Amino acid sequence: MTPDFLYGTAWKEDRTAALTELALRTGFRGIDTANQRRHYVEAAVGAGLAAAYRAGVVSRAELFLQTKFTYRAGQDHRLPYDPAADLSTQVAQSVQSSLEHLGTDYVDSYVLHGPASGHGWTDDDAEAWAAMARERDAGRVRLLGVSNVFLRHLEQLAASGAETPAFVQNRCFARFGWDRSVRAFCARHGIQYQGFSLLTANPEALRHSLVAGIAALAKVTPAQVVFRFAQAIGMLSLTGTTDAEHMRQDLASRTVVLSSDEVRTIENLA
Ligand SMILES: NC(=O)c1ccc[n+]([C@@H]2O[C@H](COP(=O)([O-])OP(=O)(O)OC[C@H]3O[C@@H](n4cnc5c(N)ncnc54)[C@H](OP(=O)(O)O)[C@@H]3O)[C@@H](O)[C@H]2O)c1
Repeated sequence: MTPDFLYGTAWKEDRTAALTELALRTGFRGIDTANQRRHYVEAAVGAGLAAAYRAGVVSRAELFLQTKFTYRAGQDHRLPYDPAADLSTQVAQSVQSSLEHLGTDYVDSYVLHGPASGHGWTDDDAEAWAAMARERDAGRVRLLGVSNVFLRHLEQLAASGAETPAFVQNRCFARFGWDRSVRAFCARHGIQYQGFSLLTANPEALRHSLVAGIAALAKVTPAQVVFRFAQAIGMLSLTGTTDAEHMRQDLASRTVVLSSDEVRTIENLA
């Protein structure tokens, strides 16, 4: 089952293991990472998971683990595959490396970190996507996703006859109706939308008088109102907070009460 919050492990470097373990102790059951050393330390996420298992905090079966395949262009020199190999081989090598890093024999979700071009769904994307589907068919991956996509990527992927993803993970800007057109595509195709940078991309929403007013009345923070709003419109939120109190607050945002009018107004802030 997909949890209602994902703890993101980007940009934590030597704090990655401890923060992953802390997130699990605080109650997160979904972990997002990537086999992209430039922004993530996937092996340290695995160390954090192992520490939590050892301490009896959680078992593998209770967790939702998501990681990503990142093209050469999105990586630095620390590659999880042979750059001279074809893309299908790179995907297989990256998955194998992720499973070793995470100490597991399957991941719950495997995401194409970003398409090869901003202009559309390319032959490279089709090859990587087909290779990801083979990993799924072989049981090493349960569900597939794509990230950093525009509507045209999704439309072209669907038009190609390839299977549509189970997840779309995008940076979510309030000023674009919280990624309205991509969310609408997801709703039509039964795709679960995952939103990141909900706070950092939207300072104007956090400062907005409506959000601030709801937060003050409910004695919660504007960040909690935004996370609860995201949940109310069917989004799966990511948070990568490094702060124990923010971890608690983010999970507790589930209980913030928003009326349907408030949800609609926040959705149309831009
Ligand atoms: N697919 C992609 O290309 C992609 C790109 C970016 C991110 N991601 C994923 O998304 C995850 C989250 O990244 P993000 O861009 O959303 O940023 P983030 O890492 O979650 O950063 C949130 C920022 O807001 C601050 N903050 C203040 N109050 C907060 C609260 N109540 N709860 C949470 N944060 C609060 C945090 O500071 P404190 O640390 O002090 O709380 C932090 O500086 C990443 O770790 C990664 O897994 C994916």
